[in-house]
Amino acid sequence: MMAQVVGGYFTSHVPAIGGAIQRGDQEAEYWKPFFDGLPPVRQWLADVAPDVAVVFYNDHGLNFFLDAMPTFAVGAAARYDNADEGWGLPVYKSFTGHPNLSWHLIEALVEAEFDITTCQKMMVDHALSIPFELAWPDAGAWPVKLVPIAINTVQFPLPSPRRCFALGRAVGQALRSWKGDERILVMGTGGLSHQLEGARAGFMNPEYDRFCLDHLAENPAALTVHSAEEVAELAGTQGVEILNWIAARGALGDAPQALVMRNYHVPISNTAAATVVLEPA
Ligand code: DHB
Ligand code: FE
Repeated sequence: MMAQVVGGYFTSHVPAIGGAIQRGDQEAEYWKPFFDGLPPVRQWLADVAPDVAVVFYNDHGLNFFLDAMPTFAVGAAARYDNADEGWGLPVYKSFTGHPNLSWHLIEALVEAEFDITTCQKMMVDHALSIPFELAWPDAGAWPVKLVPIAINTVQFPLPSPRRCFALGRAVGQALRSWKGDERILVMGTGGLSHQLEGARAGFMNPEYDRFCLDHLAENPAALTVHSAEEVAELAGTQGVEILNWIAARGALGDAPQALVMRNYHVPISNTAAATVVLEPA
């Protein structure tokens, strides 16, 4: 048996989603267009039955703060805890790690000349917990092990879209050379367009979002033509979280992917929210 990448699950990670879940507001008028995107994701996950999730996300100040900000950080812990970030959300379930797969990825990435940070201790924030709560709302324990890969999307200078895509491709190559028999889910969280602070607070850009969504499955290289600064201009200073999606898409490999589902709704909180599932064609 060889490990298999079963596909990719991409979603926004707006903390307010956690509040909606806590209040049971999934059917409320404001939330329904977003939550209506989730049943097909859950059905697909039940069908493909992954054992492990490799998740590209960004930490927002829970584990890394501005004093020490790795560009790319790979978790190699046996367990990852969430904690109170001040959003008024419950502290979410802990995640079981997969240290052997983490070290395989770390060795492959360093061999491929990515100067990553290795984290044997790592807390994970809403960018990880919210997408899991959306995917497996009734789980007593998470049904997959976790390998988290954090990309700096919060403090300039940011890695370029092209570099994030290359990182993802290197992760994908390493996953395909892993000698285990796991079924591997790739996740990318964050986005789409949003800007939470400054003169453009509240900025969203459905035109750029549509460009990203239209090219993600079949021509993701289109998303790598911009610099990180240009993405901040196009998507907003938090919309640069699309870098996580670009890396995750890279990990799915160079072949065009099949679109399983796509949902887009503006706004959730201050964010243009999207959910996408891709699988090998
Ligand atoms: C919001 C979006 C985010 O991606 C985030 O990390 C925090 C807040 C928002 O729109 O409120
Ligand atoms: Fe965010």
